Amino acid sequence: MTSLGIAVEDRAGVRHVVLDRPDKKNALTTAMYAALGDAVATAQDDGVGAILLEARGDTFTAGNDLRDFLEQPPHGEDAPVFRFLLGLVRTDVPVIAAVRGAAVGIGTTMLLHCDLVYAAPSARFKVPFVDLGLVPEAGSSVLLPRRIGRARAGAALFLGETIGAEQAYADGIVTQIVADDALDAAAGDAARAIAAKPREAVRETKRLVNWDRDAVAAAIARESAAFRERLGSAEARAAMAAFFERGARK
Ligand code: COA
Repeated sequence: MTSLGIAVEDRAGVRHVVLDRPDKKNALTTAMYAALGDAVATAQDDGVGAILLEARGDTFTAGNDLRDFLEQPPHGEDAPVFRFLLGLVRTDVPVIAAVRGAAVGIGTTMLLHCDLVYAAPSARFKVPFVDLGLVPEAGSSVLLPRRIGRARAGAALFLGETIGAEQAYADGIVTQIVADDALDAAAGDAARAIAAKPREAVRETKRLVNWDRDAVAAAIARESAAFRERLGSAEARAAMAAFFERGARK
């Protein structure tokens, strides 16, 4: 099933969720978050053994659609983006990602909720929230410092530094770097392998790994309040408008 930039298909016990808006670098719209939220929220009851997040084209995702941020920012905690994120936090189905090219903003922060992340050498990770007049989301204010250390998270969050594939592997953001032409097969093999394992043991393991779900959900709620306020700020609006002005000058 394809829904406005997201394609979802169940094969061999694996739910393939494909970011499918390559002409806009898979920038995520409200409608795409709604489809992502549905795909994640229903996986468990649909008997899916693993969720595989993939992307079409040369970019994993350019993050939130900046035009959407300007024109229809998320208003409440029940916005599709938050439903998607909380779905990732709550699901007992392992989530595997295959990343090539840029993973910007939520493109990186969603990976902090994944169980396995396969990356091509072209993968690069960036969380430029401050540069956009925004704040971290998806629990990344807690999860990123915890994962890569506060000092390295500082360079990513405050300086907006890009983390390359090798560094992301060293930092524990990435499970394995795989040649571009073998990436989809490697991620698919892992997802199918997990889907074929004893289902209840897999789910119980995920519940145990995610022992701090409530704390992560609380971080998301904290961040989302600050984020929504920031979206209306002059700083954020100017930074986002500048992105499109740059594009128009290209
Ligand atoms: N929101 C909306 N549109 C976006 C977008 C985004 N986040 N990212 C890219 N696009 C659009 C561009 O406007 C452009 O559209 P156009 O062809 O109609 O002009 C198209 O996607 C291609 O983008 P472009 O910037 O030309 O591609 P690139 O290969 O030079 O660069 C990126 C790719 C991802 C590095 C760059 O697009 C980028 O930095 N995007 C913004 C990332 C960002 O700040 N995200 C928000 C994080 S909270």
